[in-house]
Amino acid sequence: MSDGASPEAWWRDAVIYQVYIQSFADGNADCIGDIAGLRSRIGYLAELGVDAVWITPWFDSPLRDEGYDVSDHRAVHPRYGSVEEAKDLITECHAAGIRVVLDIVPNHTSSDHPWFVAALRSAPGSPERSRYHFRPGRDGGDSPPNDWLSVFGGPAWTQVDDSDGNPGEWYLHLFDASQPDLHWDSPEVRREFEGILQFWFGLGVDGFRVDAAPALVKVPGLPDMGYSKDAFRADLTRADHPHRDRDEVHEIYRDWRRIADSYDVPRMFVAEAGLDDVARLARYVRPDELHTTLNLRYLESAWTADSMRTAIDTSIAVTAPVGAPTTWVLSNHDVERVVTRYGRADSRRYPGVSGPDLGPVDEELGRRRARSAALLTLALPGSVYIYQGDELGLADADVPARARRDPIWIRSGGLRLGRDGARVPLPWTPAGASYGFGRDGAWLPQPDGWGDQAVSVQEGDMSSFLELYRTALRLRRLLPGLRVASKLRWRDAPRDDVLVFTRAPGFGCVVNFGPTPVPVPLAGLVLLSSAVTGARDEVPPYGAIWLDLDGQTTV
Ligand code: GLC
Ligand code: CA
Repeated sequence: MSDGASPEAWWRDAVIYQVYIQSFADGNADCIGDIAGLRSRIGYLAELGVDAVWITPWFDSPLRDEGYDVSDHRAVHPRYGSVEEAKDLITECHAAGIRVVLDIVPNHTSSDHPWFVAALRSAPGSPERSRYHFRPGRDGGDSPPNDWLSVFGGPAWTQVDDSDGNPGEWYLHLFDASQPDLHWDSPEVRREFEGILQFWFGLGVDGFRVDAAPALVKVPGLPDMGYSKDAFRADLTRADHPHRDRDEVHEIYRDWRRIADSYDVPRMFVAEAGLDDVARLARYVRPDELHTTLNLRYLESAWTADSMRTAIDTSIAVTAPVGAPTTWVLSNHDVERVVTRYGRADSRRYPGVSGPDLGPVDEELGRRRARSAALLTLALPGSVYIYQGDELGLADADVPARARRDPIWIRSGGLRLGRDGARVPLPWTPAGASYGFGRDGAWLPQPDGWGDQAVSVQEGDMSSFLELYRTALRLRRLLPGLRVASKLRWRDAPRDDVLVFTRAPGFGCVVNFGPTPVPVPLAGLVLLSSAVTGARDEVPPYGAIWLDLDGQTTV
């Protein structure tokens, strides 16, 4: 809990564990994770020492984008359970001291949502169609209304049939064709989402992650982007972008903040907003808007001293002026796992790309770096997100082509691997049909050897990833130098490939990005090392250590 901050500001330094629900734990042996499975593992999360869970969408959905295509925001998909079970889960999490954050997807609905179904049945220009972006095509109707591309690749428009069966208008979808974009000029759309927030807040939910937060408002007239002929996916980087980060989007979040603040215990928001322009990003976390934003810059940076230091400095500089804390994110369900990415010579994250195109992976190297990354991340001021399985040191799984289902894979005709490799169900035990994930199989195939990194294998083994995370999380709660109010101070490093910083009182962290050991550059007691063995007076190759500089801490 943050010093000086009220419990209401728990989110300022919380460790939030991302539960990818379909892959966490299966309670009813249908090979798919669910609420019952999650409830049975609350003890695991409490013992890990996290403050909150963020649960990816569990709402009713045809699951063409794993639930980010919502057809009923007030219902739980039957494969995960029911609203009643969700209530019980919330109560049980709260009893275990764990807060619950859900995922809201306001940019689009599923094409199975009753609103979209009604829009398809209604005429052009009808109120039903005004909740989405329907437009006549160009070139006599045969070409899309503009040149926009989907984030997943391919055109951002799909044509529908008129009631007489002839080709009719086109609708906008910045993601998959099964995810039509809502029209946020519509007062009905705004009211509906406010109602959805109130519905879940009323059930005790502590906050929401806001999916694709900068995407909601589009510039009137929907002008072309000016893409070249061979462009494949949406370019999200341009300044003054026609479908991203429009000024008007902030009105929506101010309205949402008023709702969150209206509860006795105010609720929180964390935005998914990958904006390169840091000044623009800061606008999302102004005091009357969203509370925090997922730090995608940190997640995308290469594992080098230079690039991590720049990412850290920039991240702190962005949010400090508006009084918001920084978040630190190493991975999530949309990117390759840390072990895989850091196992490459070039460890940057390339949006929209993954797999062998990026070069060979040395998983052993990736693991050593990922352990150091855990210590670096958990030593930074602000709140930390842990993607399920990262605490086990899982790498991306090699999912066979026939089992892949990500729309990125499908829309690219198999040219891009997509995100399935990071979404494979967790191993809980070393053996069994799905390594303890459930009593039967797993919806995405787990590779051979997956059980070697199972929870039960790692528990109690002090050299394991899991115990490293547990110890780090315990110390993070314990050490006053790791509270959010304590600023980070860079110290002189003995080499260019080493980072050294301290946080008062008495905390030090050293990260060695290089292949040779470095003598510990600070005087103090080593509290924790990312390396399993090695001399205590040096930081091992690719290793990191935490230090007690005052000799005050009893571990
Ligand atoms: C976000 C989600 C991603 C999803 C997309 C569309 O980026 O994290 O998984 O595919 O939005 O909703
Ligand atoms: Ca299940």
